[in-house]
Amino acid sequence: MAVNNVVHVNECGLPLNAIAWLVKHHQSKIHERTQMIRDLQLEEGCFVIDAGCGPGLWTPLLAQAIGVTGTILGIDISTEALVTAQRRNHNTWYRQQVQYKRATLEQLPVEQGTADVIFSANVSQYLPDPVATFAAMGPYLKQDGRIVIKDIDFGTMKFHSIDPLLQKRVFQARALWEAERVDHDYAYEDSWVGSKLAHYLQAAGYKDIQENAYRIVRHHVLPADFRFYLQGIAEWFVCEGAPYLSLDDVTNWLQCFTDEENSVLDQPDFASEETEYVVAGRWDGAAPRFYVDMHIEIPHREPLLVAND
Ligand SMILES: C[S@@+](CC[C@H](N)C(=O)[O-])C[C@H]1O[C@@H](n2cnc3c(N)ncnc32)[C@H](O)[C@@H]1O
Repeated sequence: MAVNNVVHVNECGLPLNAIAWLVKHHQSKIHERTQMIRDLQLEEGCFVIDAGCGPGLWTPLLAQAIGVTGTILGIDISTEALVTAQRRNHNTWYRQQVQYKRATLEQLPVEQGTADVIFSANVSQYLPDPVATFAAMGPYLKQDGRIVIKDIDFGTMKFHSIDPLLQKRVFQARALWEAERVDHDYAYEDSWVGSKLAHYLQAAGYKDIQENAYRIVRHHVLPADFRFYLQGIAEWFVCEGAPYLSLDDVTNWLQCFTDEENSVLDQPDFASEETEYVVAGRWDGAAPRFYVDMHIEIPHREPLLVAND
């Protein structure tokens, strides 16, 4: 049974019908995401670039943090996302402080050395060479300016009251498929990127790396927007023909989430958990930039500062 009619991905990571999906997903985790921005302790009056801003869902949180003297530039390669962001911004108290422009992460439309913070949420999963992209973003920061990358990691996902072996097969099959789907003309995607971000930033030449892990747990009775999110994600795990999964596994998996009469989502012992990562680093203008093939071990140049909440 089709759930939510989600088209899973296009070449820029934003399917044309996905804005509604992004909005619901964001709303379903608004408590944790508000905390993520609070924990950054952004300075009032600072200049933040929201890189890969999509429909501008993080703009209100960022605006709240930087106050009436701060400024935000949202950039994205998707015109549709930018138009939506502009519309959402229209009647807000912070509208004069916000601009949206079409650009790529690698070539930001500002002078180098001008941004206090570059924030980027849920974009790194679509970057084929995240180290190179993060290194290219650094020069746009002021000396000691901060990059903040936020992303998911489906290696942390668990559903209580679903057969653990079925879950393991589904997750492993998706991980295998993600490693090769780019060879079948699909866009690059790494939904396991969250826990790799600290190493990526270090390899890209950032210092003072700080990783915060946000555990997102929901129990029965599920809020409607989180239920919508889980059903969409469940279908996404087995999309594109799920080449490494048996038909029985696909059917059983979908049935867990979508069976109108007997969905596990409605069982009193149901709980879901996953962890999202927010990783920050400071740009040391003098740092050597080197590009590393992330499929090989990256040497630690200095110990990572890890601050779990
Ligand atoms: C999943 S959406 C996330 C949007 C928003 N940051 C959020 O969390 O709601 C990913 C966004 O990244 C944009 N994107 C992907 N690669 C990009 C790149 N290299 N440069 C600029 N935008 C990019 C896509 O167009 C899409 O809007």
